Amino acid sequence: MQGLEKSFKQLKVLRGVDIDVARGSIFALLGSNGAGKTTVVKILSTLLKADTGTARVNGFDVVTQAADVRESISLTGQFAAVDEILSGRENLVLVARLRHLEDPGTIADDLLRRFSLTEAGSRRVATYSGGMRRRLDIAMSLIGSPPVVFLDEPTTGLDPEARLEVWQAVKELAQGGTTVLLTTQYLDEAEQLADRIAILHEGRIIVNGTLDELKQLLPPAEVEYVEKQPTLEDVFLTLVGARTDSARTDGEQR
Ligand SMILES: Nc1ncnc2c1ncn2[C@@H]1O[C@H](COP(=O)(O)OP(=O)(O)O)[C@@H](O)[C@H]1O
Ligand SMILES: [Mg+2]
Repeated sequence: MQGLEKSFKQLKVLRGVDIDVARGSIFALLGSNGAGKTTVVKILSTLLKADTGTARVNGFDVVTQAADVRESISLTGQFAAVDEILSGRENLVLVARLRHLEDPGTIADDLLRRFSLTEAGSRRVATYSGGMRRRLDIAMSLIGSPPVVFLDEPTTGLDPEARLEVWQAVKELAQGGTTVLLTTQYLDEAEQLADRIAILHEGRIIVNGTLDELKQLLPPAEVEYVEKQPTLEDVFLTLVGARTDSARTDGEQR
């Protein structure tokens, strides 16, 4: 995507966002609450139109080839879209039927296995834990094998154990060759999952690189008895802090 800008009335949410995501990789768009992550995902999934700028998904333009884009993607939001009254398996079968796929039962069973939900498959979703629901939600979004998957804050609101379960599911997804764009406000999530990380701050991508590249943006670790490596959190706070300071003090170093 190139030069994406989006305002809601007076509020300039995106002020020129450029990102490239390599096929088969996991890309994390990191930003605080309200940074504009969901807005980016909505533009890429054709739910929202950018004011200016262009974006292609799976080679298709999000405006002029919107139908092709929609066929190439799945979108999993922060709030799981599963039916509580149905069982996990029934949810999967339902979606496979809606997509006119052959043999919905086999598709459902394969996905249940992939996401370690075989045991729970026949139980109503109402009895599932948060992590199981989110895994089922991701499994549902994979029906029809879309090459590109958007995960908008996939672990927000989950307990630590459930987060680990979802992380595992996301890793397996990318190992299977799916391109994953995930948004998160959690630094450790980006650190754990992503091949590349971009930080969205005040409407722009202020940094974009691998975890190692991001860590090199900080001054070398001070030599102590044990060398201290910067965490992604150090990098984030330095960049976001430096940026806010430079806006106020006209580029003065801190
Ligand atoms: N439809 C909308 N109308 C007006 N303001 C919106 C709309 N959608 C999002 N916003 C605002 O845009 C900003 C970015 O929102 P969002 O993309 O949801 O951020 P994030 O997903 O990073 O938390 C927020 O200040 C939000 O209130
Ligand atoms: Mg959001």
